[in-house]
Amino acid sequence: MDIPFDVLSSLCDEFKKYNYIDPSDFTRYHVKRGLRNEDGSGVMVGLTRVCSVRGYVIDDGERVAVPGLLSYRGIDINDILDGAEQDDRFGFEEVIWLLLFGSLPSREKLDWFRGVLADARELPPYFAEDMIIKAPSRNIMNKLGRSVLALYSYDDDPDSTNLENVLRQCIELIARMPAIMSYAYQVKRRHYDGKSMFFHPLDANHSIAECILSSIRPDRAFTDLEAKTLDRCLMLHADHGGGNNSTFTARVLSSTGSDTYAAISAAIGSLKGPRHGGANIKALEMAEDIAAHVKNPADDGQLADYLTHILRKEAFDGTGLIYGMGHAVYTLSDPRAIRIKKMARALCTEGKLAERLALLEAVERVTPQLLASRRGSEKPICANVDLYSGLVYSALNIPVDLFTPIFAVSRIAGWCAHRIEEITTNGKIIRPAYKAVWEKQIYRPLNER
Ligand code: COA
Repeated sequence: MDIPFDVLSSLCDEFKKYNYIDPSDFTRYHVKRGLRNEDGSGVMVGLTRVCSVRGYVIDDGERVAVPGLLSYRGIDINDILDGAEQDDRFGFEEVIWLLLFGSLPSREKLDWFRGVLADARELPPYFAEDMIIKAPSRNIMNKLGRSVLALYSYDDDPDSTNLENVLRQCIELIARMPAIMSYAYQVKRRHYDGKSMFFHPLDANHSIAECILSSIRPDRAFTDLEAKTLDRCLMLHADHGGGNNSTFTARVLSSTGSDTYAAISAAIGSLKGPRHGGANIKALEMAEDIAAHVKNPADDGQLADYLTHILRKEAFDGTGLIYGMGHAVYTLSDPRAIRIKKMARALCTEGKLAERLALLEAVERVTPQLLASRRGSEKPICANVDLYSGLVYSALNIPVDLFTPIFAVSRIAGWCAHRIEEITTNGKIIRPAYKAVWEKQIYRPLNER
């Protein structure tokens, strides 16, 4: 039986009596709220050779905004994407290699690694029947997390954290994520949406992007442009430094000596949040909401009025957030957003897609000024990767249910690289501190309360 509303309401009242923390205490006790320094920069908690994210430089002790730069293993993400585009080839598998091992693969190594990934794609016998079909979930991120955790039971050596074992687990998980995602989606369609379910076998010759498209479409058909566009999105989302919330989550769990399945499922749970990867769904929902409430979204004044309602928590989802805007590190620009916006402009040229693109571009144009005057802060704010990615996925006919899961299918490469780095180079349990700010209580026996 569900807990009745009046019971919950009195439990909430009970909670509120004893759980207030004065916001000024954070400043008083010099708390690094959100693990940020006073100037908004992140607290330095580790060293990495995997990935770097730059949005500002410190000059004479001052934070100076610079155009965003994302590098995998020291190579600018734009160069990696340009390389794949110039050769007109798929690039996500190359990025996985680069992140896991540290340098660009030769053609021979890349071909061999593609085969290793394809061979590892198959899910264990009866896994789909027992773990995916039997326990559907409305939310594919939830199902991804549960499935990754369940794979522990199918592993003969789940707990050993030696390099060989963790690499095996990581490669298997990276290879299996697309099938888990698309099967979970099929079951969700059947169970919750009353639609047909189809489990296409995966083609060993397909790249990961092609696998995804062929497995989610009833007729398995896709164009080369669609597959290459998705591939570029996977390349762009594959890592974002050790401090992004989901990767840090994977590192926190890894620092305890816990197993790969626990660390990766926790990272999936983190990415699901609407301030993190879940923002790609929210950004498109927000665009729909704006289109429904603003008579002429092309008029910046009308749009600004509605966005102000959103910021005041009076409209859309009541959180006060304009999704797809802002970033903890980037200031002037997010290099991923620039690339994805270019893809959106190429794909969304007519009809509703073109309208939504124009609306999101207007959100990008109008929001920085609104936020700056609300926050009274000089920190520039830019569009982030999630503003346009959902639109690009819509143009590829990818259902909304899969927007954040596709992010996970890509980001697992980074999670794994950081988990391996945490295990092999850190060796210290991550354990920050919390200051208790309570009035002392004494224990009273039950009959004296
Ligand atoms: N809408 C409303 N408020 C925003 C905002 C946005 N898009 N972006 C930043 N802010 C607020 C923050 O919540 C923060 O408020 P606080 O001081 O009361 O905590 C303040 O502005 C300063 O933020 P900043 O330090 O620049 O960023 P952050 O690290 O606190 O937050 C995000 C980063 C990404 C969580 C934030 O920009 C956000 O919530 N964006 C919308 C969700 C989103 O698109 N997420 C995807 C990120 S890739």
